[in-house]
This record gives sequence, structure tokens and C-alpha cells, in this order.
Amino acid sequence: MGFPHQPHPKETVVLSQYFGDPDARTYKGWVKRGGYEALRNALATAPAAVVEQVKESGLRGRGGAGFPTGLKWSFMPKAKTRPHYVCVNADESEPGTFKDREIMRWTPHALLEGAAIAAHAIQAEVVVIYIRGEFTEPWAITEKALAEADAAGVFGTIKVYLHRGAGAYICGEETALMNSIEGKRGNPRIKPPFPAVAGLFGMPTTINNVETLAAVPHILNRGAAWYRGLSLSNPQSTGTKLFSVCGHVQRPGNYEVTLGFPLKDLLYDLCGGPLPGRTLKACIPGGSSVPILTREETEACLLDYEGVVASGSMLGSGGVIVFDDSTDMVYQIMRLARFYAHESCAQCTQCREGTAWTTKILERILAGQGKTEDLDLLLDLSENMTGKTICVLSDSCAAPIVSGIKKFRGEFDAYLAGARSPVPVG
Ligand SMILES: Cc1cc2nc3c(=O)[nH]c(=O)nc-3n(C[C@H](O)[C@H](O)[C@H](O)COP(=O)(O)O)c2cc1C
Repeated sequence: MGFPHQPHPKETVVLSQYFGDPDARTYKGWVKRGGYEALRNALATAPAAVVEQVKESGLRGRGGAGFPTGLKWSFMPKAKTRPHYVCVNADESEPGTFKDREIMRWTPHALLEGAAIAAHAIQAEVVVIYIRGEFTEPWAITEKALAEADAAGVFGTIKVYLHRGAGAYICGEETALMNSIEGKRGNPRIKPPFPAVAGLFGMPTTINNVETLAAVPHILNRGAAWYRGLSLSNPQSTGTKLFSVCGHVQRPGNYEVTLGFPLKDLLYDLCGGPLPGRTLKACIPGGSSVPILTREETEACLLDYEGVVASGSMLGSGGVIVFDDSTDMVYQIMRLARFYAHESCAQCTQCREGTAWTTKILERILAGQGKTEDLDLLLDLSENMTGKTICVLSDSCAAPIVSGIKKFRGEFDAYLAGARSPVPVG
């Protein structure tokens, strides 16, 4: 990525303004661009007032669930009787999602500043950034930025630590992440108690995604009303969002748009549309854990929390996976199921057995050995994998399967009828 970053005219550039600019990575470069002013102001403001500003902005979590950030911060105990923690979720393992990586690669100080502001707002003395193990370069860049900011004393009494994960998808789930930091196996915990009551080391904890926290300095600098004003279709969805687009488009990459932006414009204008001679077939708009949209649903979808639900899916992490007419949907769905089977922590029977059997059935359909009752069996398994486990990993496996069978049933039937040649699944 070169500098200056050349955004598409339809992008609204806030978080990605300095992507591609190595000078913005340095402490001096960040300060030159107005960095750490928001933190300085926040430290001179009462914590409750900072929480109020973030609430007012309408910012919602960018890690997948879209929970209102200010509201989450307000759940922390007001009386300070025990240590409080901030955890930063920099695990970013959701297939198709690669936006937190870019924030850490190009603007690590935006994350550090946002995390320190969160720590002040919830009266935490410690921030732990849990970074995906495979993120070697973002880790090195963020570590350097942290050392520089620490040396400059910008965090005051707040201590910030970087903790490298070992490369497990499940450790992106917030309570598994806390177990992992504590040196335990990364298994999700039963909730309640929620992290604000008993989180890291059993203490009140707030956990936020990298992109969520990187937005906070902008909100404090430019005001909650400015952020709230960034909204194209629904007042409950405010601000800009980075969408990572991968798959069958001419210009895959990260694009920052105001929430409510049409998915069709993202794919056809910003990403240049399908590859030559190809047409759009389907899309998964929120990382791999959400239902698949057909071409018609994709072209009518507005990219905000409510808009994507109205189209039949979820905004999730904003990882947009695009499939053109050359795609074998049965094969792609099998690949997703295989991922979830591999990444299941195996605590819950429905997830451990469900993801494994789902993968086996899909593999046998692809191998030309499927049985007519297999689709009903897959749907039955999916029902038992939804809403029945400690975390939503198995729900995430079920979502593309149920929507895939519903919307692309003809492709499954073709394998079952022997009308399609078996494909190697090894
Ligand atoms: C299996 C699983 C994996 C997850 N992986 C991530 C991840 O890599 N990054 C992330 O920010 N949130 C991830 N989440 C969501 C987190 O549990 C949590 O909702 C999020 O960190 C909260 O931050 P936010 O409110 O700022 O979005 C995952 C959830 C599940 C169930």
C-alpha cells in the first residue's frame, strides 16, 4: 500500500486516513497529526463524562456483536473496590476479516490511545492487548509504538501490555481470550457472570475490538454529534466501518464507508465488480459466521446493523466474502464447516459432535456418496447447534449451512442425484 492512501471518492476516511503512511506509525508522527490530544483531554475529564460521550456517539462494537460501546463501559462498577481491566481483542481470526491487522500495521497509536481512554473511562489501571499469534508484523509495529508511547509517559498511571496468542480462533471469543491470558486453555466461560462483573482474573473487565477502540479518539476530538451524524440509513448505526472484501472481485481490500452504505456500491464501484466475464452469485457479508446472501439480497443490502439483518444476514465483523458464478457453493460450505470443526474447543457436545458430523456429511455429498436424507440431517444437526452452547461458534457453523441449503439447494441436489461429478475433498 503506497502513500498517500488514495481512497475511492465514495469512501469516508476516518480510521484509514493514514493507512500506507509509515510516519504515522511513530510516536512523533502520530503527535504531529493531533495524536494523544484526545487522551490528554480525557485524562482531565471525569470518567463518567467520557463514558457519556461515547454513549452519545452511538458507537457499537466492531468485533461482531455490535453491542453499544458506551453502554458496555457503563456496566463497570462505579465504586472502585477491586482492580479493573481493559482487554483489547486483537485476535482477528474470523475468515475474510483483515481490518484490525491494518489498523495495527499503520496506526498502532490510534489503538493505544483508544485503549488508554477506555481504561480511564472504566477506571482500569491495566490494559491487555491480546494479539493473534500469526500477526507477526502488526505485533512488532504495535510493540514498538507501545514502547515509544510508554517512554513519552502518555499513559500516566495506566499500564499497557501486549499478549500474543498462539493462533486459535476460539481465543477471539471474549471469555476464552481472558482464560488464555490467564495461562489456561482457551475455553469460553458460561455467562453470566459477564466480564463487567467477573472478567480477567475474576475482576471487572471491559473487552473491546481494535476497530471499536481506534474510533474513540476521533469521537472525543470531533464530538459525539459529528460521529452520530455519520449515518446513511438508520440512526442506530453510526460512524464509519472498515469492510474487508475478499474473493471474486477485481479490487479486494479494506474500504471504509459510512454505515448504511449500499453493499452493491461497495462491490461494484469500490471493488470494481466481478472478474471479467463473471457474474456475482452470492456473498457472506459479516465474516464467515453469518448467513449467505444471494445475488439479489446482496444487491439490495444496506451495510448497517439493521440493514444487513433485514436482508437476511448480519453485519458481523465486516468481512465480505464474494462468490461469482464459477463457485461450487457445496464445496465452499464444506470448507467453512471444516474450519469450525477444526477450531471448536470441544467443550460442548453439540459443537464438538455437530461441527465434525456436519463436515463429514458435506464431504460425503461432495464425494458422490450422499444419501437423500442428508440435507434433512444437516438441517437437524444445525438446529441442535444453534442457541444450545456456551459460545456461538457452533451457531456460526450452522448459519452458512442452513442458508446455503435453503438458497442453493439445487447444487446439493445435483450431487445427491449424481448429476454433478464428485470432487476430491482431501
Ligand atoms: C468464536 C468467536 C470468535 C470471536 N473472535 C473475535 C475476534 O477475533 N475479534 C473480535 O474483536 N471479536 C471476536 N469475537 C467477539 C468477542 O467475543 C466480543 O464480542 C468482542 O471482542 C467485543 O468487542 P466489541 O464490543 O468492541 O465488538 C468472537 C466471538 C466468538 C463467539
